[in-house]
Amino acid sequence: MRTSDRHFQEALKLIPWGTQTNAKRPFPQFEGIMPKFIERGKGCRIWDMEGKEYIDFRLALGPITLGYCYDEVDDAVRAQMKKGVLFSMASPLELELAQLLHEIVPNAEMVRFMKTGEDANLCNVRLARAYTQRDMVLTSGYHGYPDWFAVDDSPKNGVPAILKDYVKIIPWGDCEAAEKLIRQYNERIACVVSIPYDMNEDVNGTYIKYLRKLTKEYGILLVLDEVWTGFRLALGGAQELFSVDADLASYAKAMANGYPISTYLGKQQYLETLNTFRMTTTYAGETLSIAAAIATLKIMKREKVHDHLYTMGRRLMEGFNRIASECGVDAYAAGLPPSSYLKFNTRDKAYNERLEYLWFRELFREGIFVVLRWFICYSHKAADIDETLEKAKTALKRALEVEPKERSSIKPFYW
Ligand SMILES: Cc1ncc(COP(=O)(O)O)c(C=O)c1O
Repeated sequence: MRTSDRHFQEALKLIPWGTQTNAKRPFPQFEGIMPKFIERGKGCRIWDMEGKEYIDFRLALGPITLGYCYDEVDDAVRAQMKKGVLFSMASPLELELAQLLHEIVPNAEMVRFMKTGEDANLCNVRLARAYTQRDMVLTSGYHGYPDWFAVDDSPKNGVPAILKDYVKIIPWGDCEAAEKLIRQYNERIACVVSIPYDMNEDVNGTYIKYLRKLTKEYGILLVLDEVWTGFRLALGGAQELFSVDADLASYAKAMANGYPISTYLGKQQYLETLNTFRMTTTYAGETLSIAAAIATLKIMKREKVHDHLYTMGRRLMEGFNRIASECGVDAYAAGLPPSSYLKFNTRDKAYNERLEYLWFRELFREGIFVVLRWFICYSHKAADIDETLEKAKTALKRALEVEPKERSSIKPFYW
C-alpha cells in the first residue's frame, strides 16, 4: 500500500470524502494511478506524497495563473505578514486593489472583496434583488454551492424545495430557453447570472452577448460569473475579450495566484445599494490575499502574461491536432488557448467519452495532471508544453490499445 493510500484511509475516518471539495476527490477508476494528495508545487510542476512529479494543467482548479510559489507574489505576502493579517478597520491596501481593478476590469465602477467565487456571486445576487426589489434569479452555468444556486438537487442536498420557485435554470448556451424563461417571468426577475464562456466552441461570446441584449430589452440586470474566466481569458476577463458590458460581475480564481480572495464589482448605481442595508463579514479585508492580488495583477499588467498564456495555449492546441492525426484518432483541439481541450469526435459518443477518460488516466501515469480542460499558467514554458505533448501522445496510444479490452468496465465519471 502506498503512503498516500494509507493516509487517505485515515483521512476518510475524519473527513467526509477525505477532502474538502468534490473536484479534489480521487476518481475510483483511477485507483493507484491518480495521486490522492499533492504535497508541494513549484512553477508549473507539482509533487505527490510519493514524490512523483507532474506537469500540472489543473492548477488548483484554476487559481494558479503565474505558477506555484511565485516569488514576487509570495514576497508581497511575507512582507504584509510582518505588518498584520487582519485589523478591525480597513487596511490601506484595499484602496490600492480597488484602484487596480477599476483600471483593469471593464465596468468596475465600484468594487468590494470577498473570499470565494460563490460568495462573490451570492453578493451580486443579493445586490440585484435589493436594487430591483424582485425575487427571482435565472442562472446559467455552475456558480457554487449555496442555496440560491444549488436548487437542481433540492431537497436531497438540504436546499429548501421552495427556492425552486425563485431560481430557474437556463441550460448554458440555449438562447431559446433563455428567451422563453425571461418572457415567462419577466417582471419577477432580478437578474440573470451566467458564466460568459463554457468549455465549448462558443469562442466569440455569442450566447453571453445574446443574454446581454435580452436583459437590456427586459430591464433585468446581467451578472457575469467570471470566477474562472476573469484574469485568465484576458486581463479584464470575458467582459474585455467579448466586449460584453455586465451590470455586475464576480471574479475570483485567477486573481491572486491561489490566495483566497474574490471580488464583486460593477456599475456604481448597483454597488451603492450596499449603503442601504447590512452586508458584513469578518475576513473579506484579510490583507495577505489582498497583497497577493495586488502583486499578481501588477505582474500580469507589466509582463503581458496573457500573451504568454495564448502563445503556450496555441502551441498545446497545435500539438493536440498533430498527435490526434499521428495516432489516427478523429479528434481536434477546441476552446480558447488559456484553457483548451481535445475534443474526441467520432460518431460514437460513448467511445469518445471512454477514450477521453482513459487518456486522462494514462496521462496521470505519464506524469501529466489534467482533467477535462487544460489551464495554462505563466510558468508553462515551451519546453514544458513539448514534454507534455510527447507524453500525451504516449498516453493516447496506450488509451487506444486498452479501450477495447476495458470497454465494459469504463464509466467516465469526473465527480
Ligand atoms: C464559474 C464558477 N463560478 C463559481 C464557482 C465557485 O467558486 P468557489 O469554489 O471559489 O466558491 C466556480 C468554481 O469552480 C466556478 O467555476
